[in-house]
Amino acid sequence: MPSYTDSLERLGLRSPVIQAPMAGGSDTAALVAAVNEAGGLGFVGAAYLTAEQIAERARDIRGRTALPFGINLFAPTPAPGPAPMMAEALARVAGFHAELGLPAPKEPSYAGDGFDRQVAALLDSGAAFYSVTFGLPPADSVAAAKARGLRVLGTATTVAEAVALEQAGVDAVIAQGSEAGGHRGSFIGDPAANLVGTMALVPQVADAVGVPVIASGGIMDGRGIAAALALGAAAVQMGTAFLTCEEAGPPEAHKQAILSAREDQTRVTRAFSGRPARGIANRFMEVVEDRQAPEAVLPFPLQNTLTRPLRTAAAKDGRAEFLSLWAGQGLRLARRRPAGDLVAELLRGTEAVRRALAG
Ligand SMILES: Cc1cc2nc3c(=O)[nH]c(=O)nc-3n(C[C@H](O)[C@H](O)[C@H](O)COP(=O)(O)O)c2cc1C
Repeated sequence: MPSYTDSLERLGLRSPVIQAPMAGGSDTAALVAAVNEAGGLGFVGAAYLTAEQIAERARDIRGRTALPFGINLFAPTPAPGPAPMMAEALARVAGFHAELGLPAPKEPSYAGDGFDRQVAALLDSGAAFYSVTFGLPPADSVAAAKARGLRVLGTATTVAEAVALEQAGVDAVIAQGSEAGGHRGSFIGDPAANLVGTMALVPQVADAVGVPVIASGGIMDGRGIAAALALGAAAVQMGTAFLTCEEAGPPEAHKQAILSAREDQTRVTRAFSGRPARGIANRFMEVVEDRQAPEAVLPFPLQNTLTRPLRTAAAKDGRAEFLSLWAGQGLRLARRRPAGDLVAELLRGTEAVRRALAG
């Protein structure tokens, strides 16, 4: 096994700390720049951005830091199949619309994923890293990114997904354990079965692929980073720890929910987007998710489109009970602080644990 410092060099990383892409507005340009300037790697979750917005965000970041940053996309989304329980799906959110004074929900339609235009914008953005979740990066996008010198990363929740990503030509695999906050990257098999914890997933993936592994899920401090390195990872990708940083952009109600929640209060749910994602349990999740009638939650991205007006209004009103409160199981370790302080503490903490273990 190559040393983790060799793997870092191979990946062009200055340290093992990667701030996870967090589509939906949490990973502001200010957050990415602060992470970079403190010695980590900042990432933009651009899945919900248009090509023009990707270019604009990248300009904003380049104006704040000259250091490399990454951009993440959702792999191309096939058009969703029929939704036999559309009326029921609308009825489930209608009551919440009324509560927030919104007009009745409308039937969502699929407008295409805009992936090709997003990739074109990513390639022109000055980003040094291109990562995907929810699937394999298309071969032409991998070739185009590599031709421009970008490193390509893909997200796996099982060994089979990691091997498929390596065969697709990625430079590193992000092994996303079941503790992780936000959407699950699963794309082979039953996502409900792909809930393998980081501790179990990382060494199995590290044994199965030749490319470096980046551990993700439930890692919140130097102890977690040192543990991930011991399991065979070269770096870590952390979301929840960065969500409560001062520069991060989730609604204040979301930050508050993380800072006051317990480790047993998160659930994996399809209620907000139609794809499984981990967040703090709230009233919306409990009412909309119905294990007796799973088809009353529409397939991704239709459910995401259906619930967007509600989430936008809830964010404005500070109503945490209707927000997608994405968070990982390590949330009790989250603190409100500047991102630069967090990165410095992570790097110090990792070294302290490594020294202590070495005796
Ligand atoms: C608010 C939020 C949004 C996320 N959005 C994305 C995303 O757009 N793309 C992606 O690859 N991963 C996304 N993730 C997952 C992270 O990449 C990462 O796997 C996860 O945050 C790790 O678990 P942790 O939150 O316990 O650190 C998101 C996570 C959170 C918390």
